[in-house]
Amino acid sequence: MKIYNGKYILAGLGIFIVLVTVPIWYNMGKAAPAPKPSIDTPVINQLKEKQCVLPKAEMITGHMQLLNDWRTEVVRNSKRLYVAADGKKYNMSLQNECMRCHSNKSQFCDTCHNYAGLATGQIPYCWTCHVAPKEAK
Ligand code: HEC
Ligand code: HEC
Ligand code: HEC
Repeated sequence: MKIYNGKYILAGLGIFIVLVTVPIWYNMGKAAPAPKPSIDTPVINQLKEKQCVLPKAEMITGHMQLLNDWRTEVVRNSKRLYVAADGKKYNMSLQNECMRCHSNKSQFCDTCHNYAGLATGQIPYCWTCHVAPKEAK
């Protein structure tokens, strides 16, 4: 069987491969600087001790689990009060508690998530229902 326009097919394949791998090339260049999530927000600046719900190391690795647990407590068990190990009390709410302190979502949550290469839209999917803080552009 004769392949018509074989060289066009090959050229097309070549272009296809380049296009498909563009995100990889593109990311190689900009993967360098690690993100510095900013905690410079009005509420955090007012805090006497700059601390999160859990110790920082636990927040870095465990904030998804914590959010998940909070949601379960609120939605399944109608519980809203969270008492941390140090006795501090928190309202188990993404928008009313986390984002009360971390009102700079784009400089905080987003910098990390973009760096970690979470698909854009994966985290923002929470924000299709939950209200993201208003930020000055
Ligand atoms: C389809 C809509 C929807 C999406 C998407 C969604 N949620 Fe929710 N979530 C709700 C509703 C509705 C409640 C119950 C609100 C209430 O009772 O106050 C809730 C409650 C919660 C709560 C506890 C209450 C509060 O005010 O925050 C947490 C924490 C939470 N969700 C986290 C998340 C996270 C994290 C994501 C993304 C991974 C997410 N949700 C995505 C609809 C959604
Ligand atoms: C009372 C204010 C406050 C609340 C509420 C709060 N945070 Fe924090 N968060 C902070 C502060 C302050 C830090 C910096 C802690 C440090 O440097 O030890 C921090 C640190 C973090 C970090 C680590 C950032 C880094 O630099 O690596 C993550 C992740 C985080 N918070 C997520 C959350 C999430 C998710 C919630 C809600 C479940 C939440 N925070 C609720 C004040 C808060
Ligand atoms: C220190 C960096 C860092 C900061 C700051 C941070 N995150 Fe994350 N977050 C991550 C990483 C990394 C993952 C992916 C973890 C994994 O896939 O195991 C993640 C995953 C998540 C997930 C689970 C997503 C999923 O689809 O499973 C949620 C929800 C989430 N983050 C919410 C938040 C919110 C809300 C904030 C801001 C208050 C925040 N994160 C700030 C690093 C961060």
